[in-house]
Amino acid sequence: MLRRVRQGARRRPGTSGRGSKLEYPADMEPKTILSLFDYSGQWTAPFAAAGHDVIMIDAKHDPELHDIAKFSVEYLIEVLGIEWVDAIIAAPDCTHFTNAGAQYWRIKDSDGRTAAAAHLVRQTLRCVEFYKPDFWVLENPVGRLPKVVAEIGPATFRFDPCDFAGELGRELTAAEISTLEEMLSWFELGRKFTAAEIDLVKRSNRYTKRTCLWGHFNVPTISRREPIRVCAQGSWLQRLGGTNGEGGKAARSDTPEGFARAFHAANDWSAAAVKGWGGTSLERIEAEEAEETGLIEQLQR
Ligand SMILES: C[S@@+](CC[C@H](N)C(=O)[O-])C[C@H]1O[C@@H](n2cnc3c(N)ncnc32)[C@H](O)[C@@H]1O
Repeated sequence: MLRRVRQGARRRPGTSGRGSKLEYPADMEPKTILSLFDYSGQWTAPFAAAGHDVIMIDAKHDPELHDIAKFSVEYLIEVLGIEWVDAIIAAPDCTHFTNAGAQYWRIKDSDGRTAAAAHLVRQTLRCVEFYKPDFWVLENPVGRLPKVVAEIGPATFRFDPCDFAGELGRELTAAEISTLEEMLSWFELGRKFTAAEIDLVKRSNRYTKRTCLWGHFNVPTISRREPIRVCAQGSWLQRLGGTNGEGGKAARSDTPEGFARAFHAANDWSAAAVKGWGGTSLERIEAEEAEETGLIEQLQR
């Protein structure tokens, strides 16, 4: 079994810095979340806002230090100083797995890009194995990931951003809410959307972009609102096209805010969240050990 050591209150590389041990409610100690492939911090923002320490790792933060491909136990502990984490959240690049790029799979298989992408997913699974967090989750859109990295198994949960759009209702004005309802029929009526209207669809998460989650976590509570069709393919994301550089790529991989909030609410270390996980990882390990000890004692009698 791993030796798990609590880190001190010192800042770690990539820590968002939004949480602080002093700000956190006295009755619950702050947790440490290792967030892999996390440039924007959108998925983990509700955890950071609740006072937890979020260690954001992404090559765009530091191409040398944050290259997940070269992570090892020694590297994580001795170079990054990450001795303990309570949760792991990961959103590895989907470019080489997504169904949208299926026409390039054969060439990517032969030039090593598929293997390199699979290695990054396996690095995430190795982190899970090493840290044994209370919960972990890995996100990737519908595609061939479970075929390429077979050990990950089938996805635990699939969703579209509009499945959690109800989380964002409070931020919208009454006028925006009524515009959104009117917009539901605009595409069929042939009405064109302005940039501001597409932005409203995006902000309200009233769009589809099916993605999958793997891992050990509590499934967030659905608050679906009808998606708004803005172009022939359906989602505002298609309006960004497939080749318009890093800006478009980053916008397409944004974590929808409604989902991020609902995910945090379901996995916030409340008594209900811990019960849903089947206990914290230490409780699960202790229960397994007690069961093993009991079995050994029975055999020895
Ligand atoms: C699908 S995007 C996820 C973005 C995330 N949802 C966010 O909101 O920032 C994949 C991310 O993986 C990062 N990445 C790709 N290869 C990496 C590597 N070898 N080590 C660390 N990060 C990497 C990219 O920079 C990119 O930000």
